[in-house]
Amino acid sequence: MVEKIMSNKIKISPSILSADFARLGEEVSAVDKAGADYIHIDVMDGHFVPNITIGPDVVKALRPHSDKVFDVHLMISPADLFLEAFADAGADIITIHPEAGPHTHRSIQTIKALGKKAGISLNPATPVNVVEHLMDDLDMILVMSVNPGFGGQSFIKSQLDKIKTLRQMIDATGRDIDLEVDGGIDKNTAPLAIAAGANVLVAGTATFRGGPSEYANNIKTLRGD
Ligand code: DX5
Ligand code: ZN
Repeated sequence: MVEKIMSNKIKISPSILSADFARLGEEVSAVDKAGADYIHIDVMDGHFVPNITIGPDVVKALRPHSDKVFDVHLMISPADLFLEAFADAGADIITIHPEAGPHTHRSIQTIKALGKKAGISLNPATPVNVVEHLMDDLDMILVMSVNPGFGGQSFIKSQLDKIKTLRQMIDATGRDIDLEVDGGIDKNTAPLAIAAGANVLVAGTATFRGGPSEYANNIKTLRGD
């Protein structure tokens, strides 16, 4: 029973990077109906990471396809120039990387001033102390369990210790800050991330595997139901 209550708190955020880009609206609607809590949108610029994906106009076009939280992960540098455009496009949470600009605190303040939830994403080699003086303003901390840029990579297990440390730091604040894990999440690694203290799991490959008829089962499996 206790385990059941715990697992009910786990949120699944399907990364649409693994969706069929030719049918993106339908894919977003399908994972929404299949039980997704958030919709994870990976924005890449071919500069901060070696891949190019989605811009604000696509986010805007997807917005009518779901009422779920749009969890927008910006892997772009600089991010500041585009925060307003993603806010206007319908992002609910906007997450930046501290390496993407010189003034992380200012970027977080800008996101909050736009009326959105603010997140910070830590690459596998980024130390936890970057969040230390930001805790009062953060709504999400995203731990990258792969190097950002591509779906379908293997989970880096050294990130589990980082998740545990961040869970303690979050609990010490008493604030409701999401601890999200992104990269290589599947039925084997999801329980490890949850046990370490994560409450939001991003999953691209593991959500979209098998096509629309499998999405609900895939999400259920990841949630640990
Ligand atoms: C990687 C992205 C991830 C990625 C996850 O840079 O941030 O969100 O799409 O994909 P999977 O779940 O396939 O590892
Ligand atoms: Zn992501």
